[in-house]
Amino acid sequence: MHIESIKLINYRNYDKLDIKLNKKLNIFIGDNAQGKTNLLESIYICAFSKSYRAAKEKELIKIDKDKAYIGINVKRDFTDKFIEIKFEKNKTKRVRINRVEIDKISDLFGHLNVVLFSPEDLKLVKEGPSNRRIFLDTEISQIRPKYRYNINRYSKILKQRNNLLKSIQRNNKLKTIEVWDMQLAEVGSEIIKNRIEFIDRISEISKNIHYNITEGIEELELEYMPSFNIDCELSKNEIKDIFIEVLNRNLAKDIEKGTTEFGPHRDDIKININGLDAKIFGSQGQQRTAALSMKLAEVELVKSEIGEYPVLLLDDVLSELDIKRRKFLLSTFKDVQTIITSTEDIDVLDIHKKDKKVFYVSKGNIVNI
Ligand SMILES: Nc1ncnc2c1ncn2[C@@H]1O[C@H](COP(=O)(O)OP(=O)(O)O)[C@@H](O)[C@H]1O
Ligand SMILES: [Mg+2]
Repeated sequence: MHIESIKLINYRNYDKLDIKLNKKLNIFIGDNAQGKTNLLESIYICAFSKSYRAAKEKELIKIDKDKAYIGINVKRDFTDKFIEIKFEKNKTKRVRINRVEIDKISDLFGHLNVVLFSPEDLKLVKEGPSNRRIFLDTEISQIRPKYRYNINRYSKILKQRNNLLKSIQRNNKLKTIEVWDMQLAEVGSEIIKNRIEFIDRISEISKNIHYNITEGIEELELEYMPSFNIDCELSKNEIKDIFIEVLNRNLAKDIEKGTTEFGPHRDDIKININGLDAKIFGSQGQQRTAALSMKLAEVELVKSEIGEYPVLLLDDVLSELDIKRRKFLLSTFKDVQTIITSTEDIDVLDIHKKDKKVFYVSKGNIVNI
């Protein structure tokens, strides 16, 4: 799939923008704070319904304005999608697909697939496990729509269970917690099973990509680290039984702490480079490349699951790669629509004119040269 055009009105630092993209490579060049990331963010919102960096939706509306609009035309193999989102201060956003308003925000998922790599993705390797769980949840939801529903349900059930644990603690009375345990294990085991399958597939692909980016010097390995011991070969029901057992065994401790110690909300991924934990031993550059390989693996995974390549968004990453690695990246993903931002000119002379478009971004204005 590819994005044909983007229209923005009063979004972030843009007044009015209307641009057409190239089917293959698009490069947005501009100094800092000109609106490059804002543009990628608008695309991301059309794919995932929310921003990855705005704490509040109203931040997306241009200062001093009341409404903002994003309109994106997506060309797909079978049906094209025109995605429109309208933001209004103090109101919930409205989403239209092919001019029909959708009732549930979740109906937006799946019309546009994107994979974003931004400087913040360094956190994926460097920082705490919640960053890796966000990665799992975002990327699995793209290929398994039910997964997002399960994640939402799981956190609701978990909250109820934790509330009950706290009330038992206060009243010193054991109430029936089994109902919540059953539900938690039912949904949780499906999440765990999906994560096992996802990591299994993505580790193969990312290992390959990483090997190529580092010219055979580094071997990247991803390993699922569930919060309690499970064999990856187990069925969903077997995982469920173990989960219930773990909850039972740990109940006294959970009551004491007023929180649930085991479950997919405590999962992690171990990221090794040449056999060493990249979180602890990796250099900043190695950590960044590992995160990039993991994100790029999702591009291939979406292709194999959905049948079409997603749109690849690379925010400020190309300038950090040397020419060789850059060339590898661009040639590997030459059939993927790629949207790149950079503060400096990027040499893409060897790419045919019809396969690229270069834009200059300045104070919320974009010109194509
Ligand atoms: N709601 C908003 N209204 C007006 N300007 C905004 C809004 N949100 C962000 N900006 C401005 O956008 C600019 C940052 O844009 P960004 O896309 O992050 O820059 P970069 O080109 O470095 O990626 C800043 O100047 C910031 O003040
Ligand atoms: Mg930026």
